[in-house]
Amino acid sequence: MHKIIIDCDPGHDDAMAIMTALAHSGELELLSFCTVAGNQTLEKVTKNVLKLEEYLDLDIPVYKGCDHPLLKENKPQPAAHGESGMDGPVLPEPVKKEEAISAVEYYKQVLKKEEKVTIVALAPLTNIATLLTEAPECADHIEQIVLMGGALNGGNINKYAEFNIWHDPEAAKIVFDSGIKVIMAPLEVCYAGGILIKETKRFEREGKVSKLVKDLFDFYCRYAIDRGWDKTAVFDLIPVLYLLNKDLFTYKKGHVDIVLDGEDTQGQTVFREGEGDHIALIDADREGCMKIFFDAIDRLDQRYS
Ligand code: BDR
Ligand code: CA
Repeated sequence: MHKIIIDCDPGHDDAMAIMTALAHSGELELLSFCTVAGNQTLEKVTKNVLKLEEYLDLDIPVYKGCDHPLLKENKPQPAAHGESGMDGPVLPEPVKKEEAISAVEYYKQVLKKEEKVTIVALAPLTNIATLLTEAPECADHIEQIVLMGGALNGGNINKYAEFNIWHDPEAAKIVFDSGIKVIMAPLEVCYAGGILIKETKRFEREGKVSKLVKDLFDFYCRYAIDRGWDKTAVFDLIPVLYLLNKDLFTYKKGHVDIVLDGEDTQGQTVFREGEGDHIALIDADREGCMKIFFDAIDRLDQRYS
């Protein structure tokens, strides 16, 4: 059993990852959500988590984190996730509110109390870097950080960088240099473990959670369909799937350096194999990944029927 905190910026793929984790409450004890500016503004992504909680009748604390990167300006991504950050589903206005303390304050408190916590980081690493700067002793209580971010060959936001790392490269550098065990799911493994567009049709059926997943995919897949692709990565799902079954993945050990500047290179993750303890997931058993995901949504449909 892993005790996990999900640090996120929903985000269609963040939402899929969250639902998959919820379906596996026997293996993943989800302590809380921390939000951070990324796909959209902090206000919007926090509202999206609260909307998911409302729809799924959850009572998991939500902590609002950093509203901008350490040094850069916010650069939301409406082309990928819409103006709301999670366009598509029409969800109820949340009644529930976020907690009174900030995500960074929460991390400080919870990590004092809990022996070892896994952070599942699905967004820019601003909250975690701020925590490690303000309270470096907390690092001892972080079992591992399993993150979606980085790219080994080519980027999705500039020539070489992936969005989460690019959005706050200074924060990523602090996290990768911290000495904490970091497992990185870069773009390549997310593409390898992606969903076929035709497989998303399985969610066109009865079921409260299938309905939500269908509405999310209807918006999210437009990007791939417009480009004639038959498959799309569900990026943030990969760290959760890794925690549920490591055997689905191959990986390499090495050292990740973060490039801080350059139009083509800002946010690049330069991986030197064999030279360090960072773990980069390389390849995925796609069908095995999808089986866990589909089963998770089926399980939630049953839970809410
Ligand atoms: C990452 O960026 C965001 O748009 C997604 O939610 C994911 O975390 C993919 O590059
Ligand atoms: Ca995300």
